[in-house]
Amino acid sequence: MTDLGKPAQGQQLRSRAWFDNAGNPDMTALYLERYMNYGLTREELQSGKPIIGIAQTGSDLSPCNRHHITLAERVRDGIREAGGIAIEFPVHPIQETGKRPTPGLDRNLAYLSLVETLYGYPIDGVVLTIGCDKTTPACLMAAATVDIPAIALSVGPMLNGWHRGERTGSGTIVWKARKMLAAGEIDYAGFVELVASSAPSTGYCNTMGTATTMNSLAEALGMQLPGSAAIPAPHRERQQMSYLTGKRIVEMVGEDLRPSKILTRDAFLNAITVNSALGGSTNAPIHLAAIARHAGAELSLQDWQEYGHDVPLLVNLQPAGEYLGEDFHHAGGVPAVISELMKQGLIREEALTVNGQPIGDNCREAEIISPEVIRPFDQPLRSSGGFIVLTGNLFDSAIMKTSVISDAFRKAYLENPDDPEAFEGRAIVFDGPEDYHARIDDEALGITEADILVVRGTGPIGYPGAAEVVNMRPPGYLIRRGVAELPCIGDGRQSGTSGSPSVLNASPEAAAGGNLAILKTYDRLRVDLRRGRVDILIPEEEIARRRADIEKRGGYAYPQSQTPWQELQRNVVGQLDTGAILEGAEKYQRIDTTYGVP
Ligand code: FES
Ligand code: MG
Repeated sequence: MTDLGKPAQGQQLRSRAWFDNAGNPDMTALYLERYMNYGLTREELQSGKPIIGIAQTGSDLSPCNRHHITLAERVRDGIREAGGIAIEFPVHPIQETGKRPTPGLDRNLAYLSLVETLYGYPIDGVVLTIGCDKTTPACLMAAATVDIPAIALSVGPMLNGWHRGERTGSGTIVWKARKMLAAGEIDYAGFVELVASSAPSTGYCNTMGTATTMNSLAEALGMQLPGSAAIPAPHRERQQMSYLTGKRIVEMVGEDLRPSKILTRDAFLNAITVNSALGGSTNAPIHLAAIARHAGAELSLQDWQEYGHDVPLLVNLQPAGEYLGEDFHHAGGVPAVISELMKQGLIREEALTVNGQPIGDNCREAEIISPEVIRPFDQPLRSSGGFIVLTGNLFDSAIMKTSVISDAFRKAYLENPDDPEAFEGRAIVFDGPEDYHARIDDEALGITEADILVVRGTGPIGYPGAAEVVNMRPPGYLIRRGVAELPCIGDGRQSGTSGSPSVLNASPEAAAGGNLAILKTYDRLRVDLRRGRVDILIPEEEIARRRADIEKRGGYAYPQSQTPWQELQRNVVGQLDTGAILEGAEKYQRIDTTYGVP
């Protein structure tokens, strides 16, 4: 930067193609008059100051991100102070808990529309207001595609939830309350009271669900200012960070610091490592794959096994641990975790971040303030916090989150002396969540503690966007007998707030020709975590015969689309192992956004 807000010599701002284009004075006048009509002056628009977009994901429809409406004021202050001009615009809303049939459908839609917005309007740099689960990947995917200077700003987690002296965490309390309701321990009013206690303030889910995971990983990727992710939404530091973020994006435009310089393979490998230490969500591999593909960075599911599996779980947050978002912040947040991993040589320290510094320099001095919440490396909650990547004759790939395997689950299924970490069971098969809800408590199914629950028809095509339904509670009659969980397998996703050690994200899904489609209730399955396999125990010929049967019927049947977007997306969406992106969109990288401005 030579001067406040002014680009370096020789560098032109793309917004000049709209507001200061000598080659096209007619159109320049038209652009000017309309952007002046709410009070911007011609002088401002033609000053050569960068126009900074604020991509607003908050609204009344998106309560998790709604606080961004307030924070945007401080972002504007920062932009103005650094010599930029703020233009705020809406991003297609994605509310994780409110969107039907599933918010998974909307990540790619928000991506698509944000790409058009960033490409087609006079924006020189952008502040991405991230928060609720899919708002973070949607924004980062779009910034990767358009590749103009971009910085993410987390809205911050909610304050801790409390109920009768105990922490109640978003989502995690719902899974618990459902079991209590099914067991007759609470009534419906008690159920609502318990669930609502987990949401005491503005902000996103306070557990280490997909929101906290993706906001933390946005920082680990280098796309947020250091120390930014974990600050709770209502804290003053959140407002202060908003101001600093606004200031910084103006400088980034001056430095021409674009996502392509930050979102490198090294940054993604750092994010995988951090995710394991966090006990992060099983949605992270999907979203990171999507961001990486749009950024053109090489990343595979196998990288999660290689770089993530053996990293210990350090962060003691629900669902894998005890604490919540406020505690994580007070314990030192993401920089403290990265610093601890750096001491073991597990972080690629040279990876560049939005403040213009390598991540190593940002985090080297960070300290763990509360070792109960962020454990030192040699006293982890679990020695391996990452995912196991599985394969077998039912799918090419699936993952399992090992950090949430409970002692009870381990004892029941994995501590088999003859064959450790392997178990067999009968499959109880459901076609989608509706079928599961309709039949799970039907005693005629005769489900026992030796069975494995399977749900299919829940991937990106079968249940457009992929439903978060693989974590299935056992039937009420088993819960009342003390069986709190059964192994679960599915081609859908699962909420990051769930403590269920399911085998999920199975790709290809039943609706895309995966072998989950041939499974029948009471078939025997074998799960072998040591060898990384899940197999159906029937002869090859029987598998081939069942496949032929299904093909004769025109493939695995799934419900019709209800909206145009469901149909459009189904035609082009990929599978969960490669990010479930709009296939073909990844070829638009580092696109020319100059509109001929030299
Ligand atoms: Fe929005 Fe959890 S539902 S962050
Ligand atoms: Mg979710």
